[in-house]
Amino acid sequence: MLDEEKIPPKKSLPGLEKVRHVLAVASGKGGVGKTTIAVNVALALAEKGSRVGLLDADVYGPSVPVMLGLDEPPGWENQMMIPAQKFGLRILSLGMITEKGQPVAWRGPLVSKAINQLLGQALWGDLDYLVVDLPPGTGDPSITVAQSLPEAGILMVTTPQEVALADVRRAIDLFKRFNMKIIGLVENMSYFFCGHTETPIEIFGRGGGEKLSEEFKLPLLGKIPIDLAIGKGGDSGAPLMVSAPNCEAGRVFQAIAEKISEVMPCQKLARY
Ligand SMILES: Nc1ncnc2c1ncn2[C@@H]1O[C@H](COP(=O)(O)OP(=O)(O)OP(=O)(O)O)[C@@H](O)[C@H]1O
Ligand SMILES: [Mg+2]
Repeated sequence: MLDEEKIPPKKSLPGLEKVRHVLAVASGKGGVGKTTIAVNVALALAEKGSRVGLLDADVYGPSVPVMLGLDEPPGWENQMMIPAQKFGLRILSLGMITEKGQPVAWRGPLVSKAINQLLGQALWGDLDYLVVDLPPGTGDPSITVAQSLPEAGILMVTTPQEVALADVRRAIDLFKRFNMKIIGLVENMSYFFCGHTETPIEIFGRGGGEKLSEEFKLPLLGKIPIDLAIGKGGDSGAPLMVSAPNCEAGRVFQAIAEKISEVMPCQKLARY
């Protein structure tokens, strides 16, 4: 085998030719807020004037359609999928192409095929950022993204407590083995304001983000509070960056988007 054949081609998927940056949101652990962060960071980037796509690559429980209130299957043109449009984002999800309520027994090669189809056989068009929401774990979906999108930057999500860290470390190690660039960490569910005192309550303990940041020399891009509006927004199809962008958590998402745009710069679009 020739050496070049071993090296994954640089953005060779036909749908991605005009995508400037791919940002994959990952964590070894389930339920830490990957989808919440992928959706709200994508919206915060779009709010700054960038052209943003969102790909839900969660083969096990695609939740982007619920979080964004999307119900329609995608359109097709010359055997290419047309992403749905909502809140200024272009969106595709495995949940849009599988039967509702039908469990899908995804096996390795099928996972790769499905994700590559959403990535490459789709008319993403000109995008500054394609944000990819990954399922938990270090299995086939993460490996497919690493192989198909070697240039993607990874945003790694953790929660403050020690028990989450082992899984996140495993995921960091996996992406490092593939020579992927991890652009930073986000700690979610860091604290909560109960409304009775000004003191933030650290429900899930503290220090997880800082610990990983020191251990792996990765920047901690933000700490997101627990905010009941995040859960509500996620269930109602109007995520926080649409329903309450100026609350504390919203400002953290904006700050994270700002830091991402420094690491992954794009020409500013003129806004009228
Ligand atoms: N900062 C937060 N404050 C309040 N609720 C939150 C916060 N972050 C996430 N949630 C809620 O926690 C639940 C899990 O979040 P989410 O689905 O984003 O996690 P995930 O890591 O994508 O999960 P999975 O591993 O299943 O894909 C959701 O109900 C979401 O609304
Ligand atoms: Mg998720």
